[in-house]
Amino acid sequence: MFELSEEGKQFVKKELERYEDRYSAIIPSLYRVQKENGGWVSDECVAYLSQLMDLPEADIYEVFKFYTMFNQKPVGQLHVQVCTNISCSMNGGRELADHICKAYNVKSGEVSSDGKVTVSRVECLGSCDTAPMMQVNDRYLENLTPESALEQLKSLESEL
Ligand code: FES
Repeated sequence: MFELSEEGKQFVKKELERYEDRYSAIIPSLYRVQKENGGWVSDECVAYLSQLMDLPEADIYEVFKFYTMFNQKPVGQLHVQVCTNISCSMNGGRELADHICKAYNVKSGEVSSDGKVTVSRVECLGSCDTAPMMQVNDRYLENLTPESALEQLKSLESEL
């Protein structure tokens, strides 16, 4: 059964105290849960958070399902989110995503067999001037070529 660490519980408590409206604490709390649950949020996590925050599950689901930064299924240790919106697509973003999928022998949205990588195609990440780009966990990798993207991913893999 999912449970936050003591630090995690304190984090949520502080977030609840920080805002006038308890609902404002949902996003940071979901981030914390996702981090402690290996990169995604399960139904069990939502139920847990609902109890911890004393908020209806439906309200947490509303936020969780709306924002794409919350993963609704397990992801690899490196979650590679390749932007395929207009600026990135015009600069090779779709081909970049295909190249990375091929290199890791994984389909978009699936976890590689070794559990290390998930490649997702995502909408604009707000860094259009550095297209094509992608986000890997919390890091932005920009002005990419297929070669530089794989090189940087190998480097990040070595840090796991
Ligand atoms: S279109 Fe890719 S970051 Fe905006």
